[in-house]
Amino acid sequence: MTVDDPGDRPRPLDRPRPRAAHRDLERYAGLFAARTQNMKSSAMRDLMALTQRPEVISLAGGLPDTSLFPAEDLAKHLSVVAAEGSARALQYAPTEGLAEVKEAIREVLRAEGDDADPDDVLVTTGGQQVIDLVCKTLVDAGDVVVAEAPTYPGAVPAFAAYQADVVQVAMDADGLRVDVLEETLDALAADGRTPKFIYTIPNFQNPGGVTLSLPRRRRLVEVARERELLILEDNPYGLLRFEGTPLPTLRSLDGGEFVISLGTFSKILSPGLRLGWAVAPHPVLAKMNIGKAASDLNSSSLTQLFVATFFRDGDWRGYLDKQCALYCARRDVMLEALEAHFPPTATWTRPEGGLFVWVTLPDGLDTTDLLAKALSRDVAFVPGRAAYLDGRGGASLRLNFSGVGADDIREGVRRIGVVVREQLELLDRLTGVPPVRRPADLPAPDPTLADVLELPRRGPDPAGSRRGTSSS
Ligand SMILES: Cc1ncc(COP(=O)(O)O)c(C=O)c1O
Repeated sequence: MTVDDPGDRPRPLDRPRPRAAHRDLERYAGLFAARTQNMKSSAMRDLMALTQRPEVISLAGGLPDTSLFPAEDLAKHLSVVAAEGSARALQYAPTEGLAEVKEAIREVLRAEGDDADPDDVLVTTGGQQVIDLVCKTLVDAGDVVVAEAPTYPGAVPAFAAYQADVVQVAMDADGLRVDVLEETLDALAADGRTPKFIYTIPNFQNPGGVTLSLPRRRRLVEVARERELLILEDNPYGLLRFEGTPLPTLRSLDGGEFVISLGTFSKILSPGLRLGWAVAPHPVLAKMNIGKAASDLNSSSLTQLFVATFFRDGDWRGYLDKQCALYCARRDVMLEALEAHFPPTATWTRPEGGLFVWVTLPDGLDTTDLLAKALSRDVAFVPGRAAYLDGRGGASLRLNFSGVGADDIREGVRRIGVVVREQLELLDRLTGVPPVRRPADLPAPDPTLADVLELPRRGPDPAGSRRGTSSS
């Protein structure tokens, strides 16, 4: 920076800060660490900014409906926190978290048939911090991390920031293809490479909406044990099940000692609290604890005490049930709207819980382009590419059904359907070839060639029904 540059003179406080010019960026470029070259902002975060316009129907975010939580309950529990220990609520806390919160966490774990010694639990600032801390603890530049294809878009910037070499393994309606995972691990081993961890979201995957079947869960933990590999089990949605049989967590299965489990209060209670947790093998947890202390010393004492109070005095299971009932109804609205407004060549998952439906359009359409057109009609979704690190996913999109009401879901899906049909017609005119509809009875495509989550494609339906594909 030069002192004679007028840009450096003090700016009156009432004048808006100008946007960073190219020249400004160049000034700082020499200061940036090498790892920042790989840092990408999550496509979702950028999108959120665009979707803030009140007229936009956003099916893009992963927002729970926080309006379900009664304001008077929030006030009541917060005043109990203040009355019982305002000094503690306003004070630093131990990095590993408060004992009362660990009890609340154990209650959630038990509800999923799991449990943990409080010493094996680290309370974190959301589940997102767990992903960051696991990378911070395990990943050197160039290390392999195995993830699902597609994967949680919010994990992409974390993997990129730690310069991980992410290998994405295909999924189908039963979740991660563990057979393909084993082939991938063999191929990596032949190359002298061992992944630092396998990242999976077994329940109502974000963004795929699919759930890892029980046999695959068993095989996955066996594979981890046989090969002494760590699994990061990211499980924000396990308790948001609307139908079907709950499945055991990976950590609770035989061989689960190689699992780091990630949980969060974000989806079962509130993301505004920014409270999550990790349960991990002790040596890993100890390093994560040091990494967390370096990042933020401790997660908010105030929100930890709020959660502890709510779990003690409130009805967290009742609140969860209310959420499940609402999201189930909204999922059905979304599936019906997709039937009504999307072309027969599109396919989508039918999640038994969670927040998302993953839609795959005919080859030739690009959902990143489509998003710009959708935004001009005031509707937003997450384009599939956000869920890949290598540019795949162009024909897919993620839709959220928890964050907006039924009317907006119907109207949002209708508007996206219009844009999809327009693009299809354009493609048809340009190429003269109608888009390919892959019959469901084709042999499974080579997963290494698959560019999107391979779910059962909707084939000719003898009953004439246009139901979406099932993830069960
Ligand atoms: C799969 C997955 N992991 C982690 C997170 C991070 O959640 P939080 O940091 O709010 O706990 C999310 C949020 O949407 C998610 O979907």
